[in-house]
Amino acid sequence: MAMGMSFSRRVGRIRISETKLMPMIAAEVGGCVSLGQGVPSFPTPEHVVDAVCRALREDGAAGKYSLQPGMPALREAVAELLTREKGLRVDPRAEVAITVGAMEALLCAVLSLVEEGDEVLMPSPAYASHVEQVLLAGGVPVPVPAGPGWGLDVAALEAAVTPRTRAILFCNPCNPTGAVFGEAELRGLAGVAERHGLYVITDETYDALVYDGPMPMSVAALPELAGRCVLVNSFSKRFALTGWRVGYAWASAPIMDQMLKVHDCTAICAPTVAQHAALAALRGPQEVFAAMRTALAARRELACARLDALAGALSYVRPAGAFYIMARTLFTGEPSRQLAERLIREARVITIPGSTFGAAGEGHLRLSYGAGEAELEEAFDRISRWMLA
Ligand SMILES: Cc1ncc(COP(=O)(O)O)c(C=O)c1O
Repeated sequence: MAMGMSFSRRVGRIRISETKLMPMIAAEVGGCVSLGQGVPSFPTPEHVVDAVCRALREDGAAGKYSLQPGMPALREAVAELLTREKGLRVDPRAEVAITVGAMEALLCAVLSLVEEGDEVLMPSPAYASHVEQVLLAGGVPVPVPAGPGWGLDVAALEAAVTPRTRAILFCNPCNPTGAVFGEAELRGLAGVAERHGLYVITDETYDALVYDGPMPMSVAALPELAGRCVLVNSFSKRFALTGWRVGYAWASAPIMDQMLKVHDCTAICAPTVAQHAALAALRGPQEVFAAMRTALAARRELACARLDALAGALSYVRPAGAFYIMARTLFTGEPSRQLAERLIREARVITIPGSTFGAAGEGHLRLSYGAGEAELEEAFDRISRWMLA
């Protein structure tokens, strides 16, 4: 640190996720292919591009701030979606905010609900940014190791509750494991929250990307969580709009009133042009998004087949959703951080060290199958050659 400079304890507690650092190391090394980042490879669909161009040409307001909680038409479309797909009764004016990605919605929720010293239970391995956000808020992340097959261990969740526990924060489907929690697990989680008066923050960023059945139910639909649940979602994955930075939150009006204060002093509003993109994605033709999901399902098969061919060296639980696989590294006892860096430097393949997602992830690499098939094949070819060398 430079002489005389000091920073807040708050930022001293957090770090940039290795999900972002690995591609930065790879950029220095050059020539890498990626099983790393959580980006579906698809370009922004034509009808979304057209709608944004039209808005910019015809609507003088498209280049200006929107209303602070988001464009009314988009909040209404989100409310309809939540009712149609999750059975929620939603007041778009008082309970929905459009945010700068799911990430900002999560931050608004965590900063509104978590007090200094509050414990937040997180099924683990956990999405790294969930942990960092709780730390930023001064809270204490409490990892609750997953059960067999990366399932939700409800008994362990209950056993982890203390008088300081404030909330449960989780994603379903799960990044990084690809697990999809079913109704029994979600009812179990809701029961823990109800018995102990906890808030629940449910991050449903990957809800539409499930391959073996219908969209999982939302824990937010359970009546026992009424008034104590924040649902967060994103346009990044389902609609392949990662760079547009749009997400949303649904919460009861008293919670939303607090979250909007954080939203106001972080983002003011989500970018209006990006909100037009999100609106077009929701209201326009859906076939293109269904085709993306079909492509991701095929990529899951490809990735699993390539991992099966490496069975002695890597093992995994077949993912049911999102586009990640946690591959256990049977061929080495090396720390996953070191291994991932060696893979970049020696094999020119980006993976994410499992330790990024907490102690329960150590001994694994997170592999994403968001990339196109040619890149996936090339990445697995390189890993296979590297292992044989
Ligand atoms: C579980 C989860 N939540 C939230 C996010 C952030 O999404 P957004 O791009 O909408 O900010 C991600 C991104 O990878 C994620 O995996």
